[in-house]
Amino acid sequence: MHDVAITGSGVFTPPHTITNDELVAAFNAYADRRNAEGADPPVPHSSAEFIMSASGIGNRYVMDKDGILDPDRMFPRLPERPDDAPSLMAQMGVDACDRALSRAGIGAGQVDAVLCAASNHERAYPAIAVEIQDLLGSQGFAFDMNVACSSATFGIQTAADMIRAGSIDRAIVVNPEICSGHLEWRDRDCHFIFGDVATAVVLERADLAQAPGFTVESTRLATQFSNNIRNNDGFLRRTRDAMDDRRDMQFVQEGRKVFKEVLPLVSTHIADHLADAGVRAADLKRLWLHQANKAMNDYIGRKVLGRIPEPHEQPNILQDYANTSSAGSIIAFAKHSDDLAAGDRGLICSFGAGYSVGSVLLTKR
Ligand code: COA
Repeated sequence: MHDVAITGSGVFTPPHTITNDELVAAFNAYADRRNAEGADPPVPHSSAEFIMSASGIGNRYVMDKDGILDPDRMFPRLPERPDDAPSLMAQMGVDACDRALSRAGIGAGQVDAVLCAASNHERAYPAIAVEIQDLLGSQGFAFDMNVACSSATFGIQTAADMIRAGSIDRAIVVNPEICSGHLEWRDRDCHFIFGDVATAVVLERADLAQAPGFTVESTRLATQFSNNIRNNDGFLRRTRDAMDDRRDMQFVQEGRKVFKEVLPLVSTHIADHLADAGVRAADLKRLWLHQANKAMNDYIGRKVLGRIPEPHEQPNILQDYANTSSAGSIIAFAKHSDDLAAGDRGLICSFGAGYSVGSVLLTKR
């Protein structure tokens, strides 16, 4: 068995931002139009204060801004590309991979496997991962995987296990998330939740790695079926009738239930993982948590550490990026890990639809 290290991480940040004020102005203009047409029941206004206090989100990055903020459209304009042009997910993913590879100090040609782990994939096949492999010029094989918001940690365990077992030496796990495409921007209860981004991490056999990075001490995954976060869109869609206005063909959630059910699941998962690894919570210098809701993260941080975490112990990126599904905990890791010293421990933890929970225990090399 080989030791595994995460030696590089990278974040692709889309070109456009939407502040809560901009988002709410567009939503309220849409609501006013619907109400002038006699919407029954009337569409209530959204509020930037509610969004910040309920979620901790202040801003989101998106691949297209104008379509989302057009009250007559309320959906991004992301034109289909010809088959011989890079797909949007691949383009975003390659940018994140290039950044992660440069941090790791290796070339794409040294990578044996590309795992594209994300909540939504732009097409059924060929796999986006194979396209990214081709654009990067990396070796070996590539495949797509989807475990919703936990895709990144599930991808990290999958890649780490292959390196541990000796079937590959190096892998990239890439998470291009175009969440603006699965969000119903006309639904006040959730229109503020998501943003777009892509993240990537490079995993290597530790004895081959040049960059310091982090040793992957252990990983743990768990799933438990729930319908409380669901999206019914899929390849059988066109075989059914009258699909266009069905609300369940985008992200839907029972936010309160998710809150109540996921928190104990995640807290217990982390406590069990640490106990089995023989690590005390007090030994953790950092928690890089999934970024769905600030209150949720505050709760988990308190539960894990047994006290209110200092802001630097549990960094949030929600205020800038919103919920970016599987990429959230990796953005937090990529942007808030350079200051740790050799021997410092940290934990990446994701959670979301499925339900799914994944944790990765790391030690700075
Ligand atoms: N603007 C103003 N008011 C709004 C609003 C908006 N955009 N959206 C909802 N409200 C209102 C509701 O209508 C409700 O009003 P009422 O009390 O008169 O009925 C009130 O605000 C509270 O709504 P609720 O939906 O219960 O809010 P909440 O405090 O549960 O926060 C979420 C909503 C979605 C932020 C929160 O439930 C959450 O984050 N849940 C977990 C989400 C999650 O992790 N999902 C995983 C996805 S990966």
